[in-house]
Amino acid sequence: MDAPGLRDAPDALKGLRDDVYRRPLSTALSRLGLGRGWRCVDVGAGGGDVSVALAEMVGRDGRVYAVDSDPLARDAVARAAAAHAQVIALTQAAEDLILPEAVDLAFCRFLLLHVLEPAAVVRRMAGAVKPGAWVVAQEPVTSAGRIDGVALSMPDARHPDVGAILPALVRDAGLEVVDAWAEAPAGVGAGPVRSYLQSLTGVDPGDDPVVLPPLVTVIGRRPPGGPGTTR
Ligand SMILES: C[S@@+](CC[C@H](N)C(=O)[O-])C[C@H]1O[C@@H](n2cnc3c(N)ncnc32)[C@H](O)[C@@H]1O
Repeated sequence: MDAPGLRDAPDALKGLRDDVYRRPLSTALSRLGLGRGWRCVDVGAGGGDVSVALAEMVGRDGRVYAVDSDPLARDAVARAAAAHAQVIALTQAAEDLILPEAVDLAFCRFLLLHVLEPAAVVRRMAGAVKPGAWVVAQEPVTSAGRIDGVALSMPDARHPDVGAILPALVRDAGLEVVDAWAEAPAGVGAGPVRSYLQSLTGVDPGDDPVVLPPLVTVIGRRPPGGPGTTR
């Protein structure tokens, strides 16, 4: 049986059943009213799971640009989105984001912790959306995660706790912060939380209780009539 709240997940997100962070994604997308015909960009798309979920929500009349700096991601997205002509995979650094059209939603998840300058990337995303349109960023506060009460660390990430300053990054990019919250999956013993941690760190927490890094979601909106941000 689904956990409370997951019953409200948009149908397309059912494809993300193994994604332990799908609940904040579902909440954010439901709040926007994302639907048919929307133009979106998924920045730092990785294997494209979220891009495909977005594509199913926007339908054939919509479009999803799946942008990643790693050329291998483009192949992975092409495979994942083989049945979705509305997904266009682009190899591009988020810092240089340029799209063929202004979009209704610029989205990123687990991206800003890896980039050199998170503020520059959020500004770029703000510049990619139409006036009145949306930027949604979901980033972790890694050190607030716990295994058996001990704080998590992610030495390979440039900004492992970038989620803690995410609302300010969105505001400083010239966007209105419409909503912001943090959510952390937790568990003990066998299950998706333990499997996720194991795949992320290579460490099996066994029977120790786990709180994964809280994911801070910020929903930002570009002012409808204002000057907005420049690219
Ligand atoms: C942890 S994965 C997240 C994938 C996906 N967003 C998700 O939530 O499942 C981070 C992705 O960001 C990409 N990335 C890292 N730095 C980037 C940059 N400067 N510009 C664009 N993509 C970048 C990586 O190649 C990787 O695919």
